[in-house]
Amino acid sequence: MITIHDNLFFLHGKDMSYIMKKDEAGYLYHLYYGKRLGQREYQIPVNYLRGFSAADINDKTVRDTPNNDVGWLPKDEQGKSLDEAPQEYPSYGRFDLRTPAIEIEYGDGNRITDLRYDSHEIISGKPELPGLPAAYGKENEAQTLRITLKDMVAKITVILSYTVYEQHNNICRNVRIQNQGKEAVILRRALSVNIDFAGGDRDVISFPGSWARERHTNRQRIHHGIQEFSCARGASGHQMNPFIIVCDTASNEDYGNCYGFSLVYSGNHSAIIEKDQYDITRAQMGIHPNTFAWELKPDDWFQTPECILAFSSQGLNSLSQSYHDFFREHFLHGYWSKRDRPILLNSWEASYFDYNEETLLTLAEKSKALGIEMLVMDDGWFGKRDDDHSSLGDWYANKKKLPGGLSRLAAKVNDLGLGFGLWMEPEMVSPDSELYRTHPDWAVQVPGRTPAITRWQYVLDLSRTEIQDYIIDAVSEVLSVPGISYLKWDMNRHMTDMPDSGYNHRYILGLYRVLEQLTRRFPKVLFESCSGGGGRMDPGILYYMPQTWISDNSDAIERLYIQEGTSYAYPLPCMTAHVSAVPNHQTGRITPLSIRGHVAQFGMFGYELNPDDLPESEKIEIVQQIETAKRLRTLMRSGDFYRIASPYAGNDCAWQVVSKDKRETVLLFARILSVPNPNVTTVKLKGLLPGENYHESGSQRIYGGDELMYMGIHIETGAQDYFSILKHLIVN
Ligand code: GLA
Repeated sequence: MITIHDNLFFLHGKDMSYIMKKDEAGYLYHLYYGKRLGQREYQIPVNYLRGFSAADINDKTVRDTPNNDVGWLPKDEQGKSLDEAPQEYPSYGRFDLRTPAIEIEYGDGNRITDLRYDSHEIISGKPELPGLPAAYGKENEAQTLRITLKDMVAKITVILSYTVYEQHNNICRNVRIQNQGKEAVILRRALSVNIDFAGGDRDVISFPGSWARERHTNRQRIHHGIQEFSCARGASGHQMNPFIIVCDTASNEDYGNCYGFSLVYSGNHSAIIEKDQYDITRAQMGIHPNTFAWELKPDDWFQTPECILAFSSQGLNSLSQSYHDFFREHFLHGYWSKRDRPILLNSWEASYFDYNEETLLTLAEKSKALGIEMLVMDDGWFGKRDDDHSSLGDWYANKKKLPGGLSRLAAKVNDLGLGFGLWMEPEMVSPDSELYRTHPDWAVQVPGRTPAITRWQYVLDLSRTEIQDYIIDAVSEVLSVPGISYLKWDMNRHMTDMPDSGYNHRYILGLYRVLEQLTRRFPKVLFESCSGGGGRMDPGILYYMPQTWISDNSDAIERLYIQEGTSYAYPLPCMTAHVSAVPNHQTGRITPLSIRGHVAQFGMFGYELNPDDLPESEKIEIVQQIETAKRLRTLMRSGDFYRIASPYAGNDCAWQVVSKDKRETVLLFARILSVPNPNVTTVKLKGLLPGENYHESGSQRIYGGDELMYMGIHIETGAQDYFSILKHLIVN
């Protein structure tokens, strides 16, 4: 997988290669990233001294430059210019005047760093990253290359780490930086990855959004200058997911070179694209540099978060599948990562804060009768909480609502044959709470200022070990109540009043420590993350909590956009999707129960409504939906996901999941608005066995695999808005 030839470093994955080269002066160049290449002597596609680009006068590897304007410089003073060459990890201030990947401020105020190759090593497997979530890989599955670069003047050591996997087209990259000097320095920028793509027109796809509108796909041409896709709100955020794709402008779902960048991080992040004067596209990702500064004392190390890259030469859908497989096989871990999840009913949209033991038990009974497997008690069970104005931090049962406490309720729900789970928001404190009255200094704040309020709550200072320990203890006490097997971990505000530029990173490290300890202590509890829906849907969080409530928007039509956008990086087992009541609470839209069920099947399925509010006919339909969900859940969790028709492109959406052995598939077709006198609608399926016959569940129809893929399946759309069908086909 990793080989080194003279000055060339070759990384090979299943179908891809990544090549670097160091020159005589020790500079590390990026030569190639793409479809698998053979091992040859490749040249650095550079580099003459160009006008207005600086060079190292000590570097004697001069080349003639027929077309440039440096004739006035004596030949032996011409050097190479890094300014036009694809770099591996560019630093600030000398020979490359584009956006750097690393920037360090020294005691005298200068920020110049000049990194040269020092050494390298190859390690079997994938090392862990201290304090940070990261992918894993056994010795026979993965290899890691570490290249050490040094600045001999500033005494800075940088270790670039690359892990490749025999069976995958992913590369995991991270960077470690050490100060070996005698004085403290300040890291101003320490990105996890930099790739310089030579020549060519490319697009960038990002995933911006807002509360209730998360991860909408946004594709734009990469133009000269800088484009940035970032979030500096203290969390990965609804506003911009830490994931981008750089792709050929001609690429589509099935065609073209595509490169994914997924940052394993839950704090401030940034993806920066710079197309330079020679049409090189520089793509970078890491901790948001503008909100970051980190003091490195002599001998101290700084470890960047990991960035998981993916490459596909066959378009966007296969890029997504490459991420889905990689996350499932080398990232998600723990008891639930490869298990079917319980079908749950969450009390939030059923009754918001207004419940008590009796109403919850009625809800549990009704749920059980429909086939639901778990009741989740959402916000409102603790302190004196009846609305969002109080009690975060007071994690003991409200005796008015739950007179027998958590233990009696959990036992009674369990006695009905249901699992029991609950909601907490452990990182927060309400000013109106016992916790805040006892520890007003525990809120993140700057001395002399009252912290800004959001949803009547402050953020607890997770950079402090004593506060991390308090959270670990408080959550442990709740989870130690017998019968609790699920926790929805929420985070309902962004961060303000951060005391310094290193704060957000310290907070995130504190959060990861808390989550590491709790998930180890309660390995069988199913943790679901949430942040006002999908405000913290990132790999850093998914490492600890295998599923996320990806949006507070439960409207089936809005979910088409949100789930499709989310699917570019994240597999279906990471997204929870619930059927809710109509008119929908976020949009006011009235959709049929059928489309709400069909869309929710393409996620970890559940409900967010009170069955008592439904007519009998809908309860019968729900029983059928749940039977379908139980039949499909292993397939949905483990199969290959295909985007066949996109709601972003028009009125129709078609998604498909195919089992790994290709013998089972499920298709969703949805038409958003009714089309009068419609054209014949045909959907061509993907990824099947052409020579096999597929039987449609619940019907006598048999289709050939070739027929389904090449001729397509004819869809009889009804004269109705929000039409949908779900087809389940099996070879037997
Ligand atoms: C957030 C979540 C919701 C719900 C509420 C409770 O908004 O996204 O699902 O849990 O908090 O306050």
